[in-house]
Amino acid sequence: MIASVQERVKLRNGVEMPWLGLGLWKVKAEGEAERAIRAAIQTGYRSIDTAKAYRNEEAVGRAIRDCGVSRDELFITTKIWNEDQGYERTLTAFEESRKRLGLDVVDLLLIHWPGKDKFVDTWRAFEKLYAEGLVRAIGVSNFQIHHLRKLAESSEIVPMVNQVEFHPLLTQKELLAYCKENGIQLEAWSPLMQGNLDHAVLQEIAGKYGKTPAQVVLRWDLQHGVVTIPKSVTPSRIAENADIFDFTLTDEDVARIDALNENRRFGPNPDALLF
Ligand SMILES: NC(=O)c1ccc[n+]([C@@H]2O[C@H](COP(=O)([O-])OP(=O)(O)OC[C@H]3O[C@@H](n4cnc5c(N)ncnc54)[C@H](OP(=O)(O)O)[C@@H]3O)[C@@H](O)[C@H]2O)c1
Repeated sequence: MIASVQERVKLRNGVEMPWLGLGLWKVKAEGEAERAIRAAIQTGYRSIDTAKAYRNEEAVGRAIRDCGVSRDELFITTKIWNEDQGYERTLTAFEESRKRLGLDVVDLLLIHWPGKDKFVDTWRAFEKLYAEGLVRAIGVSNFQIHHLRKLAESSEIVPMVNQVEFHPLLTQKELLAYCKENGIQLEAWSPLMQGNLDHAVLQEIAGKYGKTPAQVVLRWDLQHGVVTIPKSVTPSRIAENADIFDFTLTDEDVARIDALNENRRFGPNPDALLF
């Protein structure tokens, strides 16, 4: 039972990652990101998920410098964008992200999308950054099983994390099992289906526990052993999304949510995003 917002999962290399983080896609750099991060940190969040592509890394840097929580308590994730893939470009892009964030060390660096044919070279750069201690953990995002297999055949380090679209309409059963077997921590993006929570089964289960559909879905992530990073810029929702540590769904309710799967994506299919 994961019983507090401060609880962390130990990644394969021993680094501890919070189970809950704040997602920052589509959060504006001008004020909005800093306000959301401040509200989240006050609520107890310690993990922030950004990316070069979100154009708010500088705001993340400012917010965490001013937040009153020490750097070693925080867990900051950023990602290498598709156009920056390849060995040399990744090293340059990482340095630029690190500068924008104002950090010496990034907690988790992810390959944002597998893309077409460069992720093995990109990963070599990740292994170098990891060996140099500039990143505490390295991982991937939007990798399907075939991408993970290809990476395993051609590299030394197995990714510590795979961040993928994961929610009741896309339960990723095979991918989750593969990641568990291989010690890869799955992390859910768009865990709240981008706000599309108006679903009778979720509402019924939520009513039973005195919780909201959002809280039920986030708790379901945790009970599957999946790290989750809901996005909100609304302080009351930021707090609501962290109030998930005082109840446990029964196995039957977990199974009812699993059964909602439609293999439906709100974001792109990784096999079709080839740039
Ligand atoms: N690696 C990748 O390729 C990738 C792709 C997509 C996302 N991500 C990461 O995953 C994070 C989360 O995914 P997401 O931003 O796509 O969507 P999400 O977290 O599934 O949903 C966010 C939406 O839900 C609303 N919301 C938040 N809490 C709510 C609540 N308690 N009740 C009702 N509505 C609520 C938000 O509105 P307000 O903000 O207005 O409150 C926003 O419109 C991103 O921010 C990003 O960090 C990664």
